[in-house]
Amino acid sequence: MRAVVVLAAGKGKRMRSDLPKVLHPLLGIPLLEYPLELVEALGIDHKAVVVGHGSDLVKETFGGRGRKTGDGSIIWAVQEEQLGTGHAAYVGLQALLASLKTNPESLNVVVLNGDLPLLRPATVARLIESHEDGPEEDRAEVTLLSCRKSDPAGFGRIVREPAAGGDFVSIIEESDADAATLAVREVNVGTYVFRASTLLEFYQKTSTENQQGEFYLTDVVVEAAKQGRRVKTVSVRDESETVQINSRTELSRASEVLRQSLLEEHMDAGVTIDDPASTYIEKGVRIGKDAHIHPFVAIYAGVDIGRDAHVHPFTVLRGGVTIGSGCEVGPHAHLRPGTELDEGASVGNFVEVKNSFLGKGTKARHLSYIGDGIVGRKVNIGAGTIFANYDGELKHTTVVKDKAFIGSGTVLVAPVTVGEGAITGAGSVVLRHHDVGDGEVVVGVPARKLTKKKGLAE
Ligand code: UD1
Ligand code: CA
Repeated sequence: MRAVVVLAAGKGKRMRSDLPKVLHPLLGIPLLEYPLELVEALGIDHKAVVVGHGSDLVKETFGGRGRKTGDGSIIWAVQEEQLGTGHAAYVGLQALLASLKTNPESLNVVVLNGDLPLLRPATVARLIESHEDGPEEDRAEVTLLSCRKSDPAGFGRIVREPAAGGDFVSIIEESDADAATLAVREVNVGTYVFRASTLLEFYQKTSTENQQGEFYLTDVVVEAAKQGRRVKTVSVRDESETVQINSRTELSRASEVLRQSLLEEHMDAGVTIDDPASTYIEKGVRIGKDAHIHPFVAIYAGVDIGRDAHVHPFTVLRGGVTIGSGCEVGPHAHLRPGTELDEGASVGNFVEVKNSFLGKGTKARHLSYIGDGIVGRKVNIGAGTIFANYDGELKHTTVVKDKAFIGSGTVLVAPVTVGEGAITGAGSVVLRHHDVGDGEVVVGVPARKLTKKKGLAE
C-alpha cells in the first residue's frame, strides 16, 4: 500500500513574510497546490498534509476542495511546533497510520517537501517504481531523489564512499557541512519513499544535535544506512525540476522556469505568442487554437480565451475572465473578474470591464468603463462611455439590449436599462431608473426622450 505525506508546516523564515510559505503563489497558484496536483497525477489516494505555521489559513485555503481521485480528501496533521522535517514526517505518518489502520511493514510512504513545485509526476513515479522494484527481500527501505546541480547552494549534500559514484553514506545539511562537503554537487532533492516501519524505527534514533537544533528527516535516512539498511538514490536529470522555494528569489526563479514551459505548451497547442519574453501567462489559463497573443500581455490564472482571439499589447486579463472566439482585446485593455466577451466582441484601448457580459459582435473600442453590465449583441459603446455602477454604497446593474447605440461620452447611472436599438446622444447622462425604451432616442443632461416631430419631449 502507498500513501503520501506532504511537509508544509514550516514558516519559511527565509521568505520574510507573514503569509505561510506554502500559500505564496507561483504563477497565480499557491505553492501547496503543486505537490497536491502531483499526488493526484500519481493516483495515490491517501495523503496527509503536515501543517503548523498558519495552519488554519492553509486548511481554509485547501480544506473544502474535493480532489479528483478516490475520496481524495486530505488528512490534516498538525505539527504544533516546527521541530524539523524528521518530526514533521513522523507526525504526518502517525496521522496516516491512525486513519488507514494499516501495518507499517506493508506501507510505503512517499514524503514530499512542500516547496518543490516543479517536480514532475514522471520523476516521482520513477522513484516509487525503483523503490518497489525486485523481490521483497531485495528492496531498499528508503529510496530518495538526488540531483547533480550546477549550483548546489541551499541543499543537503549527498556523501558517497568512495567519493563520486560510490555507495550512499550520508546527507549533510549545508549548515553542518565542512568545505569539502560543500564542494559536493550532488544534492538531496527532498523527496523520499520510506518503508513506514523504517521511518518509525529510525526517527527514534535521531536527535537535535545539529546547527539548526532540529530533527532532520535526512538523519532518519542516515541512521538507517548506518545500520546497514538498504538506501537507494534515483537521480533527477533535469535540474530545473528541483528548484526549491526557500526565498523570494528562488520563487522568482521557479516562476521563470514554469512560465517558459507553460508558454511552450500553449504554442505547441496552436497559440501564436509573438514575444514570450514579455508575455506573462499564469498557470490554469486556457487558450484556443489560432489565438494570437501579442507582446506585453499579462494573463492571470483562471482566464479562458477562445479560438482566433487576438490579445493586443499592454493588456491585463485578471482571473475569471472569458473571451470568446474571434474577439479583439486591447491594446491597453483591463478586463477584470467576471468579464465575459461573447464571440467576436471587441474591447479596445483604455477600456476597463468588470463583472460584465458583452454579447456577440458588441464593440467598446475606446476609453470606457463597463462595470456590472449586461450588454446584448451588436451594441456599439461609444468612446468615453461610463457605466456608473456604484452609488457610494452598493453596486448596481446596467442592461443594454441588442443593437443599441451608446453615444460618445454617455454616462449610464445604474440601475438602468437601455432598450433594443435605442440610442443615447453624445454626452447624455441617463439617470437611474430612467429606462430607455426599445428604439427610443435620448439626449442631454439628464437624458430626455427625443421625439420625431417636436425634438425634446416634455
Ligand atoms: C531540506 C532537506 C535538505 C534538502 C532540501 C531540499 C532536511 C533536514 N533537509 O532542507 O537536505 O536538500 O530540503 O528540498 O530535511 N517543514 C515542516 N516542519 C518543520 C520543518 C520543515 O513541515 O518542522 C516543511 C517545510 O514547510 C518545507 C519542508 O518541510 O515544505 C522542507 O523544509 P525546509 O525548511 O525548506 O528544508 P530545507 O532547509 O530546504
Ligand atoms: Ca526547502
